[in-house]
Amino acid sequence: MIFTVAIDGPAAAGKGTISKAVAARFGFRHLDTGLLYRAVGARTMEGVDPVEAARSLQPDDLDDDALRTQDIAQAASRVAVLPDVRAALTEFQRRFARSEGGAVLDGRDICTVICPEAEVRLYVTASAEVRARRRFEELSPEDQTMTLDDVLQDVLARDQRDMNRADAPLVAAPGATIIDTSAMDIEEAVEAAAQRVAEALIAR
Ligand code: DC
Repeated sequence: MIFTVAIDGPAAAGKGTISKAVAARFGFRHLDTGLLYRAVGARTMEGVDPVEAARSLQPDDLDDDALRTQDIAQAASRVAVLPDVRAALTEFQRRFARSEGGAVLDGRDICTVICPEAEVRLYVTASAEVRARRRFEELSPEDQTMTLDDVLQDVLARDQRDMNRADAPLVAAPGATIIDTSAMDIEEAVEAAAQRVAEALIAR
């Protein structure tokens, strides 16, 4: 069965948690496409050319935990404006999306560019303040020097760059189901997404 769940949205809206939970529930594979850009961003911080880094990316480079710092997130957002970087990562994502057995991909341009024909297309969002608070609570145990305002400024800077770049900007795709998680807990957000997937599976 070829079946794609495409999920876009801004940083810290809950995409990652929703994607993992939906993939586990339906037995689909999951690709967090932000990790591709984070891995390229991290290589760039070591002085590697971004396009070269994107072209030579290996699955082993996608170490989830090591790539989850704020610095790498900003570096990812910066390399993500480069059309040649995006182009180098496109084919891998498309192949993953249409691989046998069902796939969930989350990112910024999955519904708009990578897989516009996905059976389920979601745009997961929340207010910048809610997203900053969630990210702060996630990161602050490890970094005592960080303030809520630092995280908010970071979230706003990334939104600004991700939404305003010329190539594949973050935008809700026409026809995508919008899930605003500002007033939801994580279980409610997962249920809203899972319900859309279940409906689309029945309708096939
Ligand atoms: O989802 P994330 O926070 O891990 O993403 C890090 C950055 O990568 C994000 O700020 C923009 C970029 N990105 C992108 O441009 N397109 C994607 N499909 C995924 C991420």
